[in-house]
Amino acid sequence: MPPRRAMLFIPGDDRRKIEKGITLQPDSIIMDLEDGVAESRKAAARSTIRAALSELDFGRSEKWVRVNAVDTVYISDDLSMLNGVPATGIVIPKVESAGQIKMVGEWLDTYETFEQKRAGGIKLIAIIESAMGVVNLREIAGSDPRLVALCFGAEDLAGDIGAIRTPDIHESAYARGAVVIHAKAYGLQAIDTPFITLDDEAALTDEAYTALEMGYTGKLAIHPKQIAPITTVFTPDDAEIQAALGLIAAFEVQQDAGTGAFQIDGKMVEMPMIRAAKALLERAKMAGIDVEN
Ligand code: COA
Ligand code: MG
Repeated sequence: MPPRRAMLFIPGDDRRKIEKGITLQPDSIIMDLEDGVAESRKAAARSTIRAALSELDFGRSEKWVRVNAVDTVYISDDLSMLNGVPATGIVIPKVESAGQIKMVGEWLDTYETFEQKRAGGIKLIAIIESAMGVVNLREIAGSDPRLVALCFGAEDLAGDIGAIRTPDIHESAYARGAVVIHAKAYGLQAIDTPFITLDDEAALTDEAYTALEMGYTGKLAIHPKQIAPITTVFTPDDAEIQAALGLIAAFEVQQDAGTGAFQIDGKMVEMPMIRAAKALLERAKMAGIDVEN
């Protein structure tokens, strides 16, 4: 799976921002048709995104389009917009049931057959941002082979459940945990909610780090200056890679000697830590780091 550490949101009706976003080369660019675009600008956004997808070279950044929710009047025009232009996939907001994902998946099946494109080539990401979405996480996570990630959306969720947004997101601790657990149970990536304060890099880094600690693999970004801090948090650094390699090497020596658990620096080491070390190396490899050298 390609890394999706920083996924940059860009209002779909703003060509200038799309061009700027591309120069920054985040792992993913998400051109928005939903809440980042005024109702009167939906049509303009569709044609701007179509033009961007057919005219611009996105380099190594993935090309995602966030459509409006499946139960809105916009959805059919949003999906039709994709006709004949290359996109990595579709981000579906406010997902509340497996049926909503399947509906988009079936639309894509027909589209890919008609256009003679690779079956299942267009991917899906679901944003979980309502009480019903959280309640139905299990059926949503297992709904469609096109699904590659679940996103957690704290702002909409707080609105939906009548909660008060807090700096450490404690009002949605359960939902934030449930999203990552369901994603991992179904082999999906987990993408954390955007951080909406634009001038506090330390707090952004903290929030991203908490997500990393929880098992999240990336975070939504809403401004160019958020890309580097987020990407850094979700990329293992040299010291972490060396520590993981050292742990695995020590473990192998102990295994050969017939010892399962042992100690390093006053701490017990056994299989779960080795699995964690291997997972960290996997993340590093996904990020393009040559961990063997
Ligand atoms: N993607 C690409 N470029 C962006 C950007 C984004 N998300 N946000 C800002 N920029 C660009 C601006 O165009 C500006 O470019 P310039 O220097 O070439 O003129 C530069 O970055 C600095 O922007 P700044 O002046 O700090 O912000 P702004 O007032 O132009 O925009 C927001 C602030 C919040 C409106 C903007 O960041 C934004 O649109 N974010 C995404 C919103 C969105 O998609 N929401 C839906 C999902 S939650
Ligand atoms: Mg939202």
